[in-house]
Amino acid sequence: MRPEKICVLGMGFVGLTLSAVLADKKFLVTGVEVNKHIAAQLQRGEPHFHEKGLDVLLKKHIGKTLFIATEVPKEQYDVYVIAVGTPIDKQTKKPMLDYVINSAMSIKDVLTDGCLVILRSTVPVGVTRSVVKPILDQSGKKYHLAFCPERTAEGRAIVELRELPQIIGGLTTECVDKAMDLFRVLTPATVEVSSLEAAEMVKHINNAYRDLTFAFANEMALVCEKVGLNALDVIKAANCGYGRSNVPVPGFVGGACLEKDPHILMDFSAAHGYTPMLVKSSRHINETLPSHIVQKALSKLHAVGKDMRYAKVFVSGFAFKGQPETDDVRDSSTLRLLDALRAAGVTTIYGHDFVVSPMVIKNLHVIPCSLEEGFDGADCVFIANNHKSYYDLNIEKYLVMMRKPAVFMDCWQIFDREFCTVPGINWGGIGFD
Ligand SMILES: NC(=O)c1ccc[n+]([C@@H]2O[C@H](COP(=O)([O-])OP(=O)(O)OC[C@H]3O[C@@H](n4cnc5c(N)ncnc54)[C@H](O)[C@@H]3O)[C@@H](O)[C@H]2O)c1
Repeated sequence: MRPEKICVLGMGFVGLTLSAVLADKKFLVTGVEVNKHIAAQLQRGEPHFHEKGLDVLLKKHIGKTLFIATEVPKEQYDVYVIAVGTPIDKQTKKPMLDYVINSAMSIKDVLTDGCLVILRSTVPVGVTRSVVKPILDQSGKKYHLAFCPERTAEGRAIVELRELPQIIGGLTTECVDKAMDLFRVLTPATVEVSSLEAAEMVKHINNAYRDLTFAFANEMALVCEKVGLNALDVIKAANCGYGRSNVPVPGFVGGACLEKDPHILMDFSAAHGYTPMLVKSSRHINETLPSHIVQKALSKLHAVGKDMRYAKVFVSGFAFKGQPETDDVRDSSTLRLLDALRAAGVTTIYGHDFVVSPMVIKNLHVIPCSLEEGFDGADCVFIANNHKSYYDLNIEKYLVMMRKPAVFMDCWQIFDREFCTVPGINWGGIGFD
């Protein structure tokens, strides 16, 4: 039977997009958000991050089928979805489950017999059963429990929530059926797995696999740099008409999920006695790429007699990815790039992004500016993500504004230097020199 009233805890990327799509399917949704500023903004019908199509859904449903609260209302809900963050400790890289624990605590006293609790946050395998269930059991109610991971990509969340297969792992068969009743309304495909733990693991497999494929492309790029080849050219050739090879474009890898989830996987796996070597190496390759690129830029500048410390450095591309576009800078590789630049003694950095607001850039202690202002008089420029707007640029118009000889790090190999007629530009990037 289709549930009616749903309470979603956590109005971040995951909780808010899910709530909006559920409200659009005529469920009565309450979104709980403990951050009062975010809650107030959402109550006005304004999303607190950029996600294609979300603003329209929010305006349409807020106050009608979607309500925002700052604590769990003492009402009866058919389904509770926990979609709060599961960050890792910056130093130890260990997962922090405080938000999940607090969420479970905040619903245990309002649960009713027969309701369903879904954990959607990415957690170490075993957490739904060993951490969340014992808290909910304190309610004394006969509730149902499922783990259904979120697998949408930021920038495509609204579309993918309606298209991607939903993975469902339940405590019992009845729990799975209840979760199916909800997700079947959203998407044509649901995939039942054998347990809560299997569903938790699916999410880790998906994310670690992505990290690994990107790391493979990046490792091939590092090899190509050493042997004097252009990585993008040879990867394209390797993939061409050859279905057994689907190597991604080399580039920076970041974002809230790929930066932390492989560490969560390594941590719980190690606790069970196995350290996943490929996952570990992938993270190492992807996490050290920004400092490698800064080192390359340093030696290029040095080669033309310039010192990075006194150079005008301009970084364009702060969101953790360019496509699909997002304004999310959490765990963006650009943050690592900034760290590496500062470690090299650069004090003044200019910054631009097609989607991220100047205020967010300013909060990173970077001077926000336009593309023109950034290129004007710059000694070194980094194009740090692959936003589609770069592909429409007449790059020569900007390169002529640089202070020659200058270094242009086209990290995603977006521009064709073969056709560049501007003298005095020393090109570089990931997988080519
Ligand atoms: N961002 C993504 O694209 C994505 C994709 C798949 C999975 N995930 C996973 O989903 C989870 C949520 O990710 P996110 O990016 O939406 O996180 P987020 O940090 O952007 O948002 C979480 C929100 O929950 C709120 N919150 C914290 N504790 C709360 C509580 N007790 N009650 C109500 N609200 C509370 C926070 O204030 C915050 O606004 C994480 O485990 C993440 O790994 C994220």
